[in-house]
Amino acid sequence: MEKEQILEMVKEYAAEHHRQKEYQKGDPIRYAGRVYDEDELCSLVDSALEFWLTAGRFTKEFESGLAEYLGVPYVSAVNSGSSANLLAVAALTSPLLGERRLKKGDEIITVAAAFPTTVAPILQCGAVPVFVDVTIPSYNIDVAGLESALSEKTKAVFLAHSLGNPFDVRTVLRFCREHGIWLIEDNCDALGGVCEIDGVMKKTGTIGDIGTSSFYPAHQMTMGEGGAVYTSDPLLHKAIRSFRDWGRECVCTGGQDNLCGHRFDGQFGTLPKGYDHKYVYSHLGYNLKITDLQAAIGCAQLRKLPTFVEKRREHWDYLRAGLEKSGAAKFLILPEKQKDTDPCWFGFIMTVKPECKRGRNEVVDLVEKNHIQTRNLFAGNILRHPCFEMLAEGRDYRVAGSLEVTDRIMYDSFWVGVYPGLTKEMMDEMIRVITEAVTA
Ligand SMILES: Cc1ncc(COP(=O)(O)O)c(C=O)c1O
Repeated sequence: MEKEQILEMVKEYAAEHHRQKEYQKGDPIRYAGRVYDEDELCSLVDSALEFWLTAGRFTKEFESGLAEYLGVPYVSAVNSGSSANLLAVAALTSPLLGERRLKKGDEIITVAAAFPTTVAPILQCGAVPVFVDVTIPSYNIDVAGLESALSEKTKAVFLAHSLGNPFDVRTVLRFCREHGIWLIEDNCDALGGVCEIDGVMKKTGTIGDIGTSSFYPAHQMTMGEGGAVYTSDPLLHKAIRSFRDWGRECVCTGGQDNLCGHRFDGQFGTLPKGYDHKYVYSHLGYNLKITDLQAAIGCAQLRKLPTFVEKRREHWDYLRAGLEKSGAAKFLILPEKQKDTDPCWFGFIMTVKPECKRGRNEVVDLVEKNHIQTRNLFAGNILRHPCFEMLAEGRDYRVAGSLEVTDRIMYDSFWVGVYPGLTKEMMDEMIRVITEAVTA
């Protein structure tokens, strides 16, 4: 039997079993979901039939395809967005970076209105997070707090583009350049967004030193579980690859044995001269690689990414105009995009105003009862979670100024989806239900 025959059958199967159901009033309207067709299934089966399993030709194709899309030279595929964030911070600890490297007790400026695994790697790598407040309706760092967060130990700023809305990249980048510190962009919720910087339109995630992506199904594209780390800096790339691949020194990929031609003649540490380069470790690393099966799905999704990005923008605009027109804006702070940007939205976030008779939880309860999924802005305030109970302010982390707006988001904000699987009927229902919940 030929592979082509099998793939033809997979196409038929996809048409029969994986076609998106037409929306009927009362069906759940999810905040996110996989959007795919026969292409993803065929690519996955193609990779399964090849049975390479570990990173292979699909991973290579995916990494170079994403690099081209982003306009960066180096992309490393990994097994999740959280792993990507861990690698981004771990890379900063590499001795390859000399005096600029992140050492134990050095500080990284971030926000507490965050996804937990933007903050966790800072502590996991022995650094001290310094929390700055955010603003509404950007839900991003209040850049006015940057200078007061700075100390002689500050080595980096690590921020997510909140729900796809780029943070004030110009101010943050200027601050980082002025003080000679690294900028990591958690781009997990923002892939496809663009910002004007120094007169050039650049993709989010490529403005700072390192960018990260997640390919969990809720994100701009998916491979089930998966992520990526990207950079334009060859030294950072070397460190990222080494930390990703067990901490090893050698850059041979699976199946390769002696790419550099010096497998048995190098001198490393106090190892005997000529110790097999394949087993020399320059970092204390991890194994955060993906399988080729994941990458195969990613390759098919990547081809659809530009359409997904456009759809997310259209949906955000539609919801915003609808809620403005419906009168809901009297009781809800609607989101605003950062100026000089064209974001790729992850969600549509709102904050319930004091004028609303109902609090956020009551509003959300009504919206959910009408089959519309909602989400909070992740941790709300990460410092208020049980995972911070064992940590001490001043020793393990610092807070620069107050986190008043962060707390307000924790109490009063919620968001709904804009993913490409939504239809106009679904969004009309979302507008109707949300408006009723805040105005009635
Ligand atoms: C901003 C942000 N960073 C990191 C992550 C982690 O990604 P993953 O679930 O792939 O580990 C997420 C997940 O949704 C996220 O929203």
